[in-house]
Amino acid sequence: MNTVLSGIRSTGNLHLGNYFGALRNFVRMQEENKCFFFIADYHSLTTHPDPGSLHGNVKNVLTEYLAAGIDPEKSTIYIQSDVPEVCELYLLLNMHAYLGELSKTVSFKEKARKQPENVNAGLLTYPTLMAADILMHNADFVPVGKDQEQHLEMTRKFARRFNNMYQVEFFKEPNAYNFGQELIKIPGLDGSGKMGKSEGNCIYLKDEPKVIEKKVKRALTDQGPTVPNQEKPECIENLFTILRVVSTPEVVNHFEDKWNTCEIRYGDMKKQLAEDIIKVTSPIRERILEIENDDAYLHKVVTEGAEKARESAGKTLAGVREIMGFKPF
Ligand code: TYM
Repeated sequence: MNTVLSGIRSTGNLHLGNYFGALRNFVRMQEENKCFFFIADYHSLTTHPDPGSLHGNVKNVLTEYLAAGIDPEKSTIYIQSDVPEVCELYLLLNMHAYLGELSKTVSFKEKARKQPENVNAGLLTYPTLMAADILMHNADFVPVGKDQEQHLEMTRKFARRFNNMYQVEFFKEPNAYNFGQELIKIPGLDGSGKMGKSEGNCIYLKDEPKVIEKKVKRALTDQGPTVPNQEKPECIENLFTILRVVSTPEVVNHFEDKWNTCEIRYGDMKKQLAEDIIKVTSPIRERILEIENDDAYLHKVVTEGAEKARESAGKTLAGVREIMGFKPF
């Protein structure tokens, strides 16, 4: 049986990118694998150190995980900061992570550019904390979106380096996963490359249908094609990318044909797109509303999850300590 692990930072509500990049794949995998899904609240501190919203954000993400179909009977759901073992593994892995490679990470460079007033050590060592999350449970597969590919590659490198350094076969090299397909990137509706919280261009799982209709209606488009079969500009390709994940192949083919024959009406396409997004999000939204006030249930889920996660983490950490030479007196 394979071990699968994934996580989402607790920086706000979950959006379509999180769902199609990570959550949906994870939900499908939980039937046949040993699964861990966690809320990366330590990671959120690298960009959002706000005591007033930390707990509320964790609660939102937890509620939305459950609503999207993560089943605590099948998977272990936990909050990162409930498992202190991760901090120790992070510290130990940091001894073998080098400034040169950390400072070259794309996400670090991007964040350093975006928040020049707060280029903290947590931001620099974000990949080692992420590696600790993954290696702590010796995960085989990590369902993530395209933007996390480099972090996964670094995790593989840290695992390999540890094994080589101590001449052991201890850590597995985990693989990024999206159902045997390429990792996916859900674009923004503003013509930008990525849907993301900090980009402010998201459709949230919790958005009401009216809000989704409005956001899709406002999506950036162009003047329309003038030559048959012409290449699509980025903003139109973006709409098609989202259509491909929410709609049926017939619908996608219909609009592809319309594009190729220069007969496309963006109004029709957007109406269909909004409708199909709402089909995906509505059941999740309804479930969010059902469970978000059930504090006893949420408490039970994370308490049991932390216990199971700590058991697995404790075993790995004991092995690492032994390999590195820590001995009891
Ligand atoms: P985060 O919180 O930015 O995103 C969570 C997951 O959602 C995916 N995602 C997307 N996928 C496709 N298109 C998009 N527009 C899009 N936006 C977000 C991300 O790829 C990710 O899978 N570093 C992680 C959190 C983390 C983690 C881990 C993940 C910490 N430790 C260990 C896996 C394993 C992050 O910031 O994700």
